[in-house]
Amino acid sequence: RPFQVAIDGPAASGKSTTAKMVAQRLGFDYIDTGAFYRCVTLAALSKGIDPSKPSQASQISNLAQSSQIGLKTVFSNSSSSLPTTRVFLDKKDVSSDIRTETVSKHVSAVAAIGPVREAVLQKVRDMGATSASTSQESNSGRAGLVMDGRDIGTVVLPNADLKIFLVADSRVRAERRLQELAKSGRKEEGLDLETVQKDLERRDELDRTREASPLRKADDAVELDTSHLTIEGQVDAIVQEVYR
Ligand code: C5P
Repeated sequence: RPFQVAIDGPAASGKSTTAKMVAQRLGFDYIDTGAFYRCVTLAALSKGIDPSKPSQASQISNLAQSSQIGLKTVFSNSSSSLPTTRVFLDKKDVSSDIRTETVSKHVSAVAAIGPVREAVLQKVRDMGATSASTSQESNSGRAGLVMDGRDIGTVVLPNADLKIFLVADSRVRAERRLQELAKSGRKEEGLDLETVQKDLERRDELDRTREASPLRKADDAVELDTSHLTIEGQVDAIVQEVYR
């Protein structure tokens, strides 16, 4: 089977950027599982459903089942430029819409709904299986897959060949998230560092304490603190682990 790399960690720990660049370096496929929960959240919000109301759980679960979610990652030939992932919800490109602070605020509540997780797990595993069967020969001479999320090493790919758990100080993560939002023109007006940091901490708390596959480091995962690492440094550290 293809070589599997599982990358987990709290919000804005740099998982998706790191995972994408690792995939690009190795010629592996990339699957962003957070995008699935973000799509379900966006679908709910655009139907006027308030995800913070527990009474809406079954409606949201139905949406999770019926939504068609697609990912398309475009890799670049130059190792220094970042691959981009387009996200499709029922064929519509929602790549920007799922990254707003409004979606971010509600996504953990949606991801805590057990039947939503089951629906997403199924979709993610299907995508992993399809990508493995179509993946071409890679830079590293073997087929592989990098998947990032909160429960990849513990639930989605419990037998992954390499598991990484990224951590970083919440202030550093908030700074990175705010920069990323500003750079891509998605920063909502009046949004400040304090607010972003509080939201990240609240989201981590929800992700860690929920009943259904909570965020935690798998016993056999390698922990990597990225507070003082550059993206390149993170990527190098993980690629080295793959070749170890
Ligand atoms: O990684 P990202 O910030 O896009 O993930 C959004 C949210 O989706 C997380 O805060 C978490 O609640 C949820 N999630 C999850 N399990 C995953 C990936 C994401 O619960 N594997």
